[in-house]
Amino acid sequence: MSVLDDDIEAEVVSAEQIRTKIVELAAAIDADYADREPLLVGVLKGAVIFMSDLARALSRPSAMEFMACSSYGASNKSSGVVRILKDLDRDVTGRDILIVEDIIDSGLTLSWLLKNLQARDPASVEVVALLRKPDAIKVQVPVRYVGFDIPNDFVVGYGLDYAERYRDLPYIGRLKASIYGG
Ligand code: IMP
Ligand code: MG
Repeated sequence: MSVLDDDIEAEVVSAEQIRTKIVELAAAIDADYADREPLLVGVLKGAVIFMSDLARALSRPSAMEFMACSSYGASNKSSGVVRILKDLDRDVTGRDILIVEDIIDSGLTLSWLLKNLQARDPASVEVVALLRKPDAIKVQVPVRYVGFDIPNDFVVGYGLDYAERYRDLPYIGRLKASIYGG
């Protein structure tokens, strides 16, 4: 239990459901990358917790890199204008990149990131996202692995924040509207 629990209206994905799903995702990734070592590219900060659990669930070795992007605009809506706050530390030419995302909402961040990484001559680029919201399906972003399709509510926990809080909750929950002034 956490004092943060009081700010959550409803659990959307439980810690147990997340654990089970990560085992499934890891099995699919292991099978697809049987003869390659994926370079996990985590999108800071939201993907950190998912990526650390996913990397440990994979039975094969992987390498880790991180990028931080920011979309301009209000804290709970994506604007589509993306800028790099932190770039990769290494050259990714010839590498098999697996982008690790916490959630795909409009898909704008991811579609921008895919183009950006594809321009660096990797051997391949795929995406694994823990969560996907309905609007994301409208955008033509090829997401190879998806954990859960969830309703169009603002959620926090397991890496996802509101104003930099709630990332440490072990489950994903819908934030009370009173918290973000809704
Ligand atoms: P997109 O560009 O609209 O797909 O937005 C993706 C990013 O917006 C995610 O990586 C999150 O950082 C953030 N985001 C979108 N929906 C939520 C949410 O429900 N809770 C917390 N962050 C979110
Ligand atoms: Mg994010």
